[in-house]
Amino acid sequence: MKVLITGVAGFIGSNLLDYLIEHTDWQITGIDNLSTGSEANIAEHKNNKRFTFVNQNCTDVKTLKEFDKVFHLAALPRIQPSFELITEHITANLVNGIHLIEVMIRDNKFPRLIYSGSSAIYGTPEHIPTAENEPVSCLSPYAFQKYEIEKYLELIATRYPIDYVTLRYFNPYGPRSFNPANKFNAYSSVVGIFLNRKKNGQELLITGDGGQKRDFIHVSDLAKANHLASVHPDKLNTAFNIGNGSTLSIVDLAKMISDKYSFIAKREGEADITFADITKAKTILKWLPVYKIEDYIKKETTS
Ligand SMILES: NC(=O)c1ccc[n+]([C@@H]2O[C@H](COP(=O)([O-])OP(=O)(O)OC[C@H]3O[C@@H](n4cnc5c(N)ncnc54)[C@H](O)[C@@H]3O)[C@@H](O)[C@H]2O)c1
Repeated sequence: MKVLITGVAGFIGSNLLDYLIEHTDWQITGIDNLSTGSEANIAEHKNNKRFTFVNQNCTDVKTLKEFDKVFHLAALPRIQPSFELITEHITANLVNGIHLIEVMIRDNKFPRLIYSGSSAIYGTPEHIPTAENEPVSCLSPYAFQKYEIEKYLELIATRYPIDYVTLRYFNPYGPRSFNPANKFNAYSSVVGIFLNRKKNGQELLITGDGGQKRDFIHVSDLAKANHLASVHPDKLNTAFNIGNGSTLSIVDLAKMISDKYSFIAKREGEADITFADITKAKTILKWLPVYKIEDYIKKETTS
């Protein structure tokens, strides 16, 4: 089996690489333009014969014929910068994915595409926990760009035999979520930011009143969902929520990490709550998250 991971040097891409190296015997090619990712994230696999890294833009990919599966993760996944650097975000979040779809059409070969989507497309949802049929309500250019790819996949599937699975991630945490070299660091996952500030002896800065709630999902559980989606025997052509199926307020998260925290202005464009209904992924993908955020935080704050 030969597979491609785009965005392999990023937070989730590098964890997916770890997972596939450990749980499969696949040949893995990873591409990344290192715009926000880091080669250090994939350094441990540098000499592994099963892994090839290519420093490349997704838009420079000429063919995908050699691959059986394509995991598309490359993106600029930050809500706040997507309001300012709009063209850059359209290129990263929309054009990259469209290019890969076009290459498949040109090749007339359709390896399964596992697309990393986002729960940001639900905005502040009306229904809690939120199922996949929740109305889309994008609060940011980022959310809209992530949704556009989903819609393109649906439309392209009406004309071509494309084979895809969209995984709508809720709020991922885990190793390498905070990359000091990433210019958008200030807007990365709150778990990584809080742990980094704690490590540096700084107080935690909570946006708004901290009452906003998030469904935190460990990155290894996300990687497992990618693996299961890629090997499912049926053509699925649908979207799955990938969250923990629970929710935690930011102030409660902060208290788990440190007793030194204060409050700063709320950020617009961010949901009040995320809370995944994961019944569909449990039923069809036979996926179940196993990690607990309390255990991760305990390990990170005591080691
Ligand atoms: N982290 C989250 O909170 C979150 C939540 C929901 C969905 N997602 C989705 O998961 C995916 C991975 O996110 P992440 O947190 O690992 O982000 P990340 O920024 O850590 O990784 C993204 C990687 O893509 C690379 N990249 C960007 N543009 C590229 C291009 N044109 N060509 C090649 N490589 C390119 C970057 O260098 C980076 O290594 C994204 O699609 C994101 O939208 C992330």
